[in-house]
Parts: sequence; C-alpha cells; structure tokens
Amino acid sequence: MGIETHLKELHRQVSTPALIIYQPQMETNLLHMQQLAETNRVRLRPHTKTHKSPFLAQRQIKLGAKGITVAKLSEAEVMLTHGLNDIFIANQITQPLKMKRLRALHDRCNLIIGIDDPRQIDLLKNEFETVHSPLQVRIEIDSGLHRCGVQINKALTDLAKKIADTFWLKLEGIFTHAGQVYAARSRSEVEAIGHAEGHIMEQAVNLLQSAGISVETVSVGSTPTVAYSAAHPVVNEIRPGNYIFYDAMQLALGSAQKEECSLFVLTTIVSQPAPDRIVIDTGSKALSTDGAFWLNGFGLPLDIPAVIERVSEEHGILKLNESFRVRPGEPLLIIPNHACVTANLFSQYHLFNPQKGIQAIPVLARGKSQ
Ligand SMILES: Cc1ncc(COP(=O)(O)O)c(C=O)c1O
Repeated sequence: MGIETHLKELHRQVSTPALIIYQPQMETNLLHMQQLAETNRVRLRPHTKTHKSPFLAQRQIKLGAKGITVAKLSEAEVMLTHGLNDIFIANQITQPLKMKRLRALHDRCNLIIGIDDPRQIDLLKNEFETVHSPLQVRIEIDSGLHRCGVQINKALTDLAKKIADTFWLKLEGIFTHAGQVYAARSRSEVEAIGHAEGHIMEQAVNLLQSAGISVETVSVGSTPTVAYSAAHPVVNEIRPGNYIFYDAMQLALGSAQKEECSLFVLTTIVSQPAPDRIVIDTGSKALSTDGAFWLNGFGLPLDIPAVIERVSEEHGILKLNESFRVRPGEPLLIIPNHACVTANLFSQYHLFNPQKGIQAIPVLARGKSQ
C-alpha cells in the first residue's frame, strides 16, 4: 500500500489515535474519478460529507470538479466561507428556523437544494418570494433506497408543475442516490443497482418531458454505483463522496482494492494481556461502530493476523487468529470501516506525503450536522 513503509516515522511524529491521509493514493483516487467523469462526459460534483474539509474540496475543484455537494446547511456555510461557491445541498431543508440562513446562503453563492414534497415550497415561501434570482431546486427521485424521493408517477409531475408555477423557484434538475447498494451481496448486484439508477432517471426524464417539463441536470451517484450509472446517456452529473478515501465497506463491496485506501487511523498498542488478545488506544470514539457486524470487526488492522473484535470508547480489543507477539508502544494502522463517519470524529487530518512530510488539515465541517 505504500504507507506501511513509513509507519514508524509517522508514529514518531503523530500522537495517536490520529487520522492519516496517504496523499499519493488520495491524489490517485481523485484523478481516477475525475477521469471516469470525463470519459463518460458527465460533471463531477463530489459529495464533501465524506471529508468535511474545504481544503480537500478545493483540491477536487482544482482537478476539474464542477461544484460540490453537501448534506447539511451548516456544511454549506463552512464551505462557502472557505471559497466554495457552487453548492448543491442534496437534502430537504424544512426547519423554519433555518430559512433565513438558507436565504443568506442563496444570496452569496450558486445554491441548489433538494425537494420531494410540494409542502416544502410553503416552508420556503416567506424567505424566498422576494429573491432577485430564483432559488434552484432539484427533485429527488427514489431509485430504491426508500429514504426520501418521489416515485415516477403523478407525484413527480405534480411537484414539477407546482415548482414551475412558483416564480421564485427554478427546477434545475433531478437527483437520486442508490444507497441501497450498501446492502448488496455480490458484484453483479452492485452492477445491477448502478444500471437501474441510470435507467430510473431516464424514466423520470421521459415522464417529465411528456408533461412538457425539461430539466438541465440529471444527477446520480454513490461510490459503488457510479461506474455503471455514469455511463447512462441521460445522466450528466455524478456525486460520489467516499472514493477520495475508500474504506473497509468499499473493499467488502468490491468497489476498491486494499491498495486504493488512502485514509487510516494510526493507533498505538497498549498491551497484550493474553496470548490471543491485543489492546490498542483506539475505540469507538475514533473508529465508530459502523458496519462492524457485517464486516467482521470494527476496522481492518494492517499487517497483523487479528480482527478488532470489540471496542469500548477508548480501547480496541483485537483477537489474534494465530500466535503473534507485539510490544506495548508499537504502532498499528487501521483502515476504518466507514471513512465518512470516522472523519467526523476527528478535528484534524495528518496529510502525509513521503516527499513533503506531514501537513495538518482541520476537518472544518466536522460536527456540522445542522
Ligand atoms: C444524496 C447523496 N448523494 C451522494 C452520496 C455519496 O455516496 P458515497 O458515499 O457512496 O460516495 C450520498 C452518500 O450518502 C448521498 O446521501
């Protein structure tokens, strides 16, 4: 993977648990996704909820991304403060308390938000009916995740017509996220979900067209499905997020190889209280508990025949599969199960480049869930 050869040097410089980005691999991941977008002639609008860092978002823009995606209003505010001014909030904002902030954001950048229910328009009305340029919205389509999103029937055309009749709104596009892929059990299932994501969006476009409504943007994306859905002729924007780092979940789905992971939790061995048990200084507050049961452990430890069998808040308990001696104070690297939630647990990254050393990057949108 490359980073293991620098493990001791990193451990001499960084207090653990720490979040390490192996920069050469991160750059490769960013370039590959940009190339995938260009090959398929679609715009890349990466979801920045994965890294929550304006610094990394700027890098994505520099490499060719056209704008960014966020999940939350407060994430958008942090990104705008740091110069990212083309922002899609791929979510519905419905709390009345947030409307003034949303309007302030709209006045300062190219903002697009998600919508999937005509009653959301009533919630936006007070703040937005006086805008100079209409608020851009994208209708969310449910492509099988069964979270938010309309089905492809009258609900879609009714909502689109209501938006068209509202002079202070502009229907900029439609979007979907086939997140059900994270429960897929085989590569062929991942592929089928990816193709279906594109196909469902084609049906949505056709239905809208038959009602006389056209949209500029047809946006899809998740890291596992994007290679398939991006190829669909109707799709013109992709929004993967996790691909910057990859993680143990992506490995389990076959969306990446171990060598492609660029995010690691650096830990220190605390003790080996029994021949088959090792304890590290890193527990649920640094690794999260995501995916632990279907992935067989709370993260993937490197170069040790063990699984992270249990975590308490500040301890990780590894069970050895074969005899292996370690010393307290030695380092251990872990690929997190789910990079997006792990990043949100730390206040900074240590961006490591073998030529340039370590650079601290704050996770500025960390905890911005409002
Ligand atoms: C609406 C939306 N778009 C895009 C993404 C990015 O997906 P991934 O993390 O698989 O890259 C997500 C992830 O949760 C999402 O919720």
